[in-house]
Amino acid sequence: MGRKKIALIGGGQIGGILALIGAQKELGDLVILDIPEVEGMVKGKALDIMELRPHDGYDANITGTSNYADIEGSDVVVITAGVPRKPGMTRDDLLSVNLKIITNVANNVKKYAPNAFVIVVSNPLDAIVYAFYKVSGFPKNRVIGMAGALDSARFRAFIAMETGLSAQDVTCMVLGGHGPTMVPLPRLATVGGVPIDKLLSKEEIDAVVKRTREAGTEIVKLLGNGSAYFSPAASIMEMVESYLKDKKRVIPSAALCEGEYGIDGYFIGVPCVIGSDGIERILEIDLTDDEKELLNNTLTAVKSTVEESKL
Ligand code: NAD
Ligand code: LAC
Repeated sequence: MGRKKIALIGGGQIGGILALIGAQKELGDLVILDIPEVEGMVKGKALDIMELRPHDGYDANITGTSNYADIEGSDVVVITAGVPRKPGMTRDDLLSVNLKIITNVANNVKKYAPNAFVIVVSNPLDAIVYAFYKVSGFPKNRVIGMAGALDSARFRAFIAMETGLSAQDVTCMVLGGHGPTMVPLPRLATVGGVPIDKLLSKEEIDAVVKRTREAGTEIVKLLGNGSAYFSPAASIMEMVESYLKDKKRVIPSAALCEGEYGIDGYFIGVPCVIGSDGIERILEIDLTDDEKELLNNTLTAVKSTVEESKL
């Protein structure tokens, strides 16, 4: 049978951490691909992780390359290729440069890994995942955008920080686009099954929701030269693991909606069941009128970015 093969297209900050987590979890062999100009950098990261293996005893193979032939037959492809946000730059500023990159990546993934489950991460996420879907012609169950996994991890972290309770016991959901219009749903958030309005005041909940919406920007400002990578990488690997192990986890992710939540023809964050068939189901829940309005706002933002990309 051999091991599963995971291709990481883009070996920058997130790509490197992905290779580390993927190896530690022994999810499969990992190939880190980047542009020829930085091939040495990804070969170096791969070799460094190979040399870490004796400490932890895991047996995955990690390689670095700039040659697409090396991703041949990959089971999973994670795309972080692109340019990250700098301070003062919006996600949409990145659109034109990252669109060119995703077109090139999509053509190569189609050629060398036509059966892969593809997780798109590059920003602006909702437009780039749509572009990958259009250019590659992959079926909709095998193309997914990572955003909700990260946004809900942040929401969980802030609820844990605010209540002083374990992050492990916080469950919650964030719908919509990956940007300031995202829709955290405090109504459905609990700590160990206890609704958060039993633990926090309305003002505290509002503050946590606001911080979640702006969490990416908060880190961009602090780092001063790039965007978050630890929590994004862990969020991505949760999705990879659910696919490879057929766990059927429910992870909010950008999926192509065709009628779900009244949305048609756009990738937007919705609760997805991820298993060996990729996106196996989109779970629909009843939203309140206020939540519907927020989802409508985020859809407007997603549509305008997609329309700007003229695909
Ligand atoms: P990074 O700059 O460290 O890494 C990006 C890598 O892509 C670089 O090594 C670069 O050389 C490579 N690259 C550029 N063009 C390429 C091409 N044509 N083919 C292959 N590789 C190419 O950035 P990062 O911090 O790893 O972030 C990667 C992307 O993920 C950014 O677009 C960032 O905005 C996005 N991001 C998304 C989320 C999310 O929730 N969806 C979260 C964090 C970051
Ligand atoms: C984030 C950006 C970079 O959420 O998408 O961290």
